[in-house]
Amino acid sequence: MGRAAAVTGAATATARAKTSGQPENLPSQTVSHTEHVQEAAPAFIGWLQPLVIWQPNSWHQPIGRPCYVPRGLPSGTVPHSTQSRGDSALDRRLLLAVLPTPLEPADRLGSALGMEPGALWVKRDDVTGLGGGGNKVRKLEYLCADALARGADVLVTGGGPQSNHVRITAAAANRLGLDCAVVLAGPRPAVATGNVLLVEVLGSEVTWLGGEGSLDHYAIEAAIHEVADRLGAAGRRPYRIPVGGASAVGELGYIRAAAELREQAAVLFGDVDLVVVADGSGGTHAGLAAGLGDLSLVLGVDVGARPDLDTQVPAKAAEAAALAGLPAPAGEVRVDHGHIGPGYGAPTEDCRQAVLLAARSEGLVLDPVYTGKALAGLVAALRDGSVGPSTRTVFMHTGGMPALFAGPYAAWGRDG
Ligand SMILES: Cc1ncc(COP(=O)(O)O)c(C=O)c1O
Repeated sequence: MGRAAAVTGAATATARAKTSGQPENLPSQTVSHTEHVQEAAPAFIGWLQPLVIWQPNSWHQPIGRPCYVPRGLPSGTVPHSTQSRGDSALDRRLLLAVLPTPLEPADRLGSALGMEPGALWVKRDDVTGLGGGGNKVRKLEYLCADALARGADVLVTGGGPQSNHVRITAAAANRLGLDCAVVLAGPRPAVATGNVLLVEVLGSEVTWLGGEGSLDHYAIEAAIHEVADRLGAAGRRPYRIPVGGASAVGELGYIRAAAELREQAAVLFGDVDLVVVADGSGGTHAGLAAGLGDLSLVLGVDVGARPDLDTQVPAKAAEAAALAGLPAPAGEVRVDHGHIGPGYGAPTEDCRQAVLLAARSEGLVLDPVYTGKALAGLVAALRDGSVGPSTRTVFMHTGGMPALFAGPYAAWGRDG
């Protein structure tokens, strides 16, 4: 925590933190390091960052991922920021993720699930890069832009003991030269494994909440506030990020992802009938539904992180859509609560089978907390007929692999 302690303006920051818990908004120009990025982009791109140029007969293989190096930076330098030229909240982001992520066919997995060839696709948001990658990088592009615009010097967030969101937030802070303080549920483990090991390697200040480690969403949120207040009182400028990065600002990342997905799908196979995603905080689901404009196009599979997804997802989707200047999405929210098992992160047999199936049919490594349960949800939906064999389905691989290396799953690859 020493690095940013030297930052001046402590008295003002303390006053601000006491009233709002967030640093006050600063002029947006403070975000920009790389205005030239936008200038370098060809005009035909429109509002979306350039995607991928697809070779007609090689539909899984992107050719020529566009890469814009801002003027004035050495070749190969990765810009941290683009600054909006327009007024859209969708433009106020930092460049932290490797985008676009691939949209890959998964016919072997689809065939094992009884789907027709060409029906199942995987959106590889596990390979977004920063800190090992995963869905949170897209959210952090917006959240960190907001944090810098508000003059923050320390990111504060929290999650379950094996939180991917916490890992990636810690990495984003380091990438941007900020400090990071995190709250993790449960007692400090004697041996650091999976994401805990990575968070410790990344060097964040960790507050362990104690207790038996079950995920109490609201207790973690309260602890995030407490840590931010403590830092604010000590003269720091904390920026609070809710569990899962699930604010309207963070969800902009998945509104943008929905547009990216639609563009890729249009070239590869046409309209997306269904997106299947793991629901932790519900923010990814909400952003996708807002971006696609229809709640019924997204099936969220509840992993047991919060009790109120059925109301939170549509509310968050409407809020994020409004922030992006879009209408609230139509349709009914779809959340499958049938695959949580004994609780958040608890091993379940249908999750294990889903993890093994994806790994052994496609070489696709899912995780035991989120994406394994999401695939178990898709398996069940195909079985009960609520998803048909020809439904053009995109399975969101949201990352999370480090959790596989944490205790309870060590024997998952054994005995079939
Ligand atoms: C790997 C992985 N997948 C899915 C999710 C769920 O995302 P959300 O919290 O936006 O619902 C998370 C959340 O931490 C995650 O780490």
